[in-house]
Amino acid sequence: MSHSNAKFITVEGIEGVGKSTNIQWMAEQLEQKGLSVVLTREPGGTPLGERVRDILLAEFTEKTLPQTELLLLYAARFAHVEQVIKPALAQGKWVICDRFVDATYAYQGAGRGMDFKVIDSLNEWTLGSFRPDHTVILDAPVEIALARIQRNRVLDRFEKEKASFFEKIRQFYLQCAAQNPERYIVIDASKELGQVKQQIAEVICKI
Ligand code: TMP
Repeated sequence: MSHSNAKFITVEGIEGVGKSTNIQWMAEQLEQKGLSVVLTREPGGTPLGERVRDILLAEFTEKTLPQTELLLLYAARFAHVEQVIKPALAQGKWVICDRFVDATYAYQGAGRGMDFKVIDSLNEWTLGSFRPDHTVILDAPVEIALARIQRNRVLDRFEKEKASFFEKIRQFYLQCAAQNPERYIVIDASKELGQVKQQIAEVICKI
């Protein structure tokens, strides 16, 4: 989808693939080309969305039901798209978003087993045909990615999931890329950081 000349790029991948560092690098590459870039994330991206993010990542005494999780994600997403992403694109700014709808199909659909049709209908209602121009998937084997997060941080509600959950998510992302190579770009994130950055720089040159 084109929004003036500015592009909407999303970055996806399981936890531990190095999204934050590489997104920052991607933004720098675009800025060096003289483009104006907005970096944002989901869940989050607005003050309300960031509060929703805290709720989504937290653990409560009761279990967070997948349906509750899904509706919270979309409540935040609608505000984010309408109040941040679309206005930025309309001003000619490129938008790089750390996760977007693919994460919902991957985590709530493939990971939690929710019906994809429910996600389709929420998308239809909230986004219509609005989708990213390009989606970069940072890919690494689950054991490598999880070893990175387990070393580095206190784990949130998602990060505490089992390896099998992340395996389903990884496979789902790879399947999206295989089915739609026009939109998805897979980067081998198991390589050392310098090589990953190199792959990203090459991608940025082409888009
Ligand atoms: P982050 O760690 O990449 O910032 O994302 C926070 C968590 O939110 C991550 O574990 C994946 C999860 N998530 C979903 O489950 N569904 C979604 O639609 C999005 C955007 C994120």
